[in-house]
Amino acid sequence: MTTADRTEQAGSFAARLVEWQRRAGRSGLPWQGTRDPYRIWLSEIMLQQTQVSTVIPYYLRFLDRFPGVDALAAAPLDDVLAAWSGLGYYSRARCLHRAALQVIEQHDGRFPDEFDAVLALPGIGRSTAGAICAFAFGQRHPILDGNVKRVLARHSGIEGWPGEPSVLAALWAESAARLPPAVAGDVASGVAGAHRDIGTYTQALMDLGAGPCARSRPRCGECPVSVDCAAHVSGRTDAIPAPRPKREIPRRASVVWLLVDRQQGVLLERRPPSGIWGGLWSLPESIDAQVEARIRASDAALQALAPIEHAFTHFRLRIEPMLVRMHLVGGQGPAVTAQAEEPGRRWVAFEQLEAVALPAPVRTLLEALRAGGRGVQPELPGLR
Ligand code: ADE
Repeated sequence: MTTADRTEQAGSFAARLVEWQRRAGRSGLPWQGTRDPYRIWLSEIMLQQTQVSTVIPYYLRFLDRFPGVDALAAAPLDDVLAAWSGLGYYSRARCLHRAALQVIEQHDGRFPDEFDAVLALPGIGRSTAGAICAFAFGQRHPILDGNVKRVLARHSGIEGWPGEPSVLAALWAESAARLPPAVAGDVASGVAGAHRDIGTYTQALMDLGAGPCARSRPRCGECPVSVDCAAHVSGRTDAIPAPRPKREIPRRASVVWLLVDRQQGVLLERRPPSGIWGGLWSLPESIDAQVEARIRASDAALQALAPIEHAFTHFRLRIEPMLVRMHLVGGQGPAVTAQAEEPGRRWVAFEQLEAVALPAPVRTLLEALRAGGRGVQPELPGLR
């Protein structure tokens, strides 16, 4: 194919997507219709691993609480994590906060409008930087999130698993080659490389991947580019893209201590800053040996609750909660209660849990407990 053919084909691909997006794509989402890079950045980070319908209420609450980059940078990380609590993948929130501080320190509080500067911010990879620059500044940059990988792999017939570096490189090349052609004089914002339709085109790719070009049972009849889609034409949409090679997902189990004190509430422990649930407040996985011996000697105080299964990206965790009613622990209850405290731990009243950054399964567990669920015997005082 000549370069001219290639340009014409790319133009036709982009034009059909842009037309389809205007007619059938998602519209009216809270981050659409704005060019405010802060709002667009926040939406792209929240949408990285989370569905639109889940993101919307978090997005609106977050903006209410942190309306701009300066408010975000000025807030303690704990408040940011609390606003993120339940969305998962908390490193996103930590990076967001660090990036806000960088915007204040390195860019005088103005979100940068230059691709390399956006890419240099914590938590922003090549695809997210491309999306932000397209939506906020009308700049022509390729994107390649999970859904877009599928759209491009199918349309161009790229076989193999997109996690494979060579496949990924081929997909990036496709994404770049298919951008709406740069047209002289077609400058939207005065920024070099800007393009009038790039935001619509970028959103179309995302929407096609989230809608008709679904992983299983794609609705090719609704797709604006199915006529020249290699996977559709060859009847191979179920084989392209190839799935991740199967591997056994490791399983881990962890006991957590749910120490409940009638006066003070529940004992929480802050997780280390990195790793799973980094920086969030969770339940202690171990307690002082003396305290544990005292608890284990008091049959009535200890109750093993139904385990919870939680899937992380790289492993499955079985959480086995051990409920301890501190007032039933033999000996000097208050002394045992005090002994359970250590640096990085604190008692939190059940009514105050809402304001604390908790991992979602821990929040679910504590809420169920408060409501008398998870097999908790009803005579449990101090919980309700
Ligand atoms: N996923 C990532 N970015 C998105 C956006 N802007 N709209 C919908 N889904 C998305």
